[in-house]
Amino acid sequence: MIQAKLEINIKGREFAMQTGDITKVPADAIGNAANSALAGGGGVDGAVHRAGGPSITASLDVIRSKIGRCPPGQAVVTGAGRLPARWVIHAVGPRYKGGRSGEAETLASCYRSCLAMADQVGAASLTLPAMSTGVYGYPLREAAHVAVETVAGFLASTRTDLQRVTFVLFGGRAFVAFARAALSHVPQIG
Ligand code: APR
Repeated sequence: MIQAKLEINIKGREFAMQTGDITKVPADAIGNAANSALAGGGGVDGAVHRAGGPSITASLDVIRSKIGRCPPGQAVVTGAGRLPARWVIHAVGPRYKGGRSGEAETLASCYRSCLAMADQVGAASLTLPAMSTGVYGYPLREAAHVAVETVAGFLASTRTDLQRVTFVLFGGRAFVAFARAALSHVPQIG
């Protein structure tokens, strides 16, 4: 199987993107594209629950009993069950409604919540999917720019123990969109 990968060094930390199935890429923390009900679903959410097993659902049931719902732009953390990770960060992206309802800011907040949560649990490595670009309908090119700008900005300007953040993208079109965004956003390689 052909796999594409791009790695960028930002102040000694690795910012990477690659094609693949996020449930098969080992990392301390794996980002999940969840929904506000924390109820599981299709796409990444379905893959995470299928590969991770019932302990993830059980942990989310406890969290849901405490907070009710996870608003778009925010995230919660659970164990990773049978996934090659220690934690799963369940983050809720915006549903795309044309781009004039604050979707870009909510998407940036979704990624910032994942990064902050990974930092909080002491993860050294984090994988992230292309949040909101599936069921939630966010156009890939626009989402890639928000995603890359948010993560590259975090790695360049925040004191963090995160040493590696990798976007794991389902297919070549997503990879190209993210690689293009990276090449235009990260001045060191522009
Ligand atoms: N690994 C990596 N990326 C994946 C995988 C996978 N196993 N499966 C899907 N993707 C990609 C999709 O191709 C898309 O580009 O992840 C991106 C996000 O798509 P979704 O998973 O549909 O997430 P999102 O658009 O944020 O919608 C979230 O969908 O599954 C439900 O419960 C979820 O209600 C929530 C909504």
